Amino acid sequence: MADQALNSCSCLIAQISDPHIKAGGKLSYRQVDTANALRQAVNTLNHLAPRPDLVLISGDLVDFGLPEEYATFKQILAELTLPVYLIPGNHDERQHLCAAFPEHRYLFQHHHYLQWVVDDYPVRLIGLDSSVPGKPHGELSDESLAWLDATLAEKPEKPTLVMVHHHPFVSGIDHMDRQPLKQSTALAEVIGQHSQVERVLCGHLHRSVQARFGNTLAISCPGVSHQVSLDLNPDGPSRFLLEPPGYLLHQWSAANGMITHQGFIEHYPGPFPFYDANGLID
Ligand SMILES: [Fe+2]
Repeated sequence: MADQALNSCSCLIAQISDPHIKAGGKLSYRQVDTANALRQAVNTLNHLAPRPDLVLISGDLVDFGLPEEYATFKQILAELTLPVYLIPGNHDERQHLCAAFPEHRYLFQHHHYLQWVVDDYPVRLIGLDSSVPGKPHGELSDESLAWLDATLAEKPEKPTLVMVHHHPFVSGIDHMDRQPLKQSTALAEVIGQHSQVERVLCGHLHRSVQARFGNTLAISCPGVSHQVSLDLNPDGPSRFLLEPPGYLLHQWSAANGMITHQGFIEHYPGPFPFYDANGLID
């Protein structure tokens, strides 16, 4: 019975990233209706079956860190019928984010950084704050890294997701790699000492990229509106395109561990059956 109970223990975690919300219907980069894109994402997440236990949003919640942008972001997010957890990205502004979400008590665990741990689910959630005011790159202070190390040491047996906005690996997309997480080696050393870390989840790249990192797997989430161009040329220009926006689903079970899927926000034709009464459809 005990094994059955353990094997039935599971958690389904959705992740979206980089909504870059603007206020007043303004388009991001004069091209992208990011508010409408987030509305569509919320609608998609609300109708997922099975329902996720929670949603993670991995930073760049708004585009210029403005109070009115957070007001719009919050208004759209109010339609989400799932618990949601936030971290800042390089486009965010800590004080304005905190002022907009005083009820998100987990955000206020540290006196300066929006770094947090949530223990309410079968999977432990840790959010890091790599934002540097006014800068596009990411940093993690020695204090933050020590906090992460100590926090991970508290529950070495519990499967854990660590979320940080900036990708902590070299993606090969040159203009994004010039906005790196500066302490990625130190982060890898900390993560590598805690084998319960199932994933390091990030945003920033606006497309899904996977890399081995600190004895685990680092994954970036697709953009929820616009995607960064897949351009692996050295000195490739900083450009985006309107490829299908997506989300990640991290499904953890005691029996199978952590499995990550990518889904798409928009609807496409189907699903269609492979088989009918006569077998495989010819
Ligand atoms: Fe972004």
